[in-house]
Amino acid sequence: MTPVHLAGPRLALREVEPEDAEALLAIYGDPEATRHLSFEPRTRDQVQAIVDRSIASAKDSPRTEFGLAVTHAGEHRLIGYARLATEPQQAATIGFALHPHEWGKGLGTETVHMLCALGFNLLSLHRIWAARSPHNEASARTLLRAGMTEDGRIRDHVFVRGAWRDSITYSILEHEWSPLAGPESHDQGNAPGAEFDSSDAGS
Ligand SMILES: CC(C)(COP(=O)(O)OP(=O)(O)OC[C@H]1O[C@@H](n2cnc3c(N)ncnc32)[C@H](O)[C@@H]1OP(=O)(O)O)[C@@H](O)C(=O)NCCC(=O)NCCS
Repeated sequence: MTPVHLAGPRLALREVEPEDAEALLAIYGDPEATRHLSFEPRTRDQVQAIVDRSIASAKDSPRTEFGLAVTHAGEHRLIGYARLATEPQQAATIGFALHPHEWGKGLGTETVHMLCALGFNLLSLHRIWAARSPHNEASARTLLRAGMTEDGRIRDHVFVRGAWRDSITYSILEHEWSPLAGPESHDQGNAPGAEFDSSDAGS
């Protein structure tokens, strides 16, 4: 598939590169950034494996997994990781995490918005969904702000930190999403939805 590059108002999504491991470790190895995630802070080797898998999955055909670097628009440095994994029935699940230094500026909302742009505009999906910890208020607000709807609760969804944990799930359908349904309505954002390089299309 043609490498993904999506440009949003303030952020961009690009393919992961080997040099991203250190910046990803600063997020996935950080106890605060991973506090509500479905895994404990990753080791350097585990992060390297994620980088390797992200790069390898970009070569799959058909491609079912998109592990992408979040960057500031026009910059190369990874400041977040965004993942979309397709499922049967034109669906996909998403996940995302930003470096703590980037929190609180509307960038999480824009990240979700760009993942939706990837799913609906480029992959012609019908439904995109996400799951969060019941304690992850930042994620709850971010998913709602990006236009998703709370669906319900999956009981004992993940086993993490020695215990089973429920998840609260959210979804958005193709007809509910538009480039106008995302960060531009955020007080801190004022821009249209993600735009695409012509090289984005196709698989
Ligand atoms: C979740 C995350 C991406 C949010 O990123 P962000 O850039 O801070 O989010 P935004 O600035 O776009 O804020 C979106 C909404 O969340 C709210 N919010 C952000 N952080 C919050 C917090 N700690 N507590 C409560 N609300 C919070 C904002 O006020 C905003 O709500 P509003 O528009 O209704 O006012 C970020 O906190 C993060 O990377 N967390 C660690 C990984 C993670 O939990 N990922 C989600 C997995 S499901």
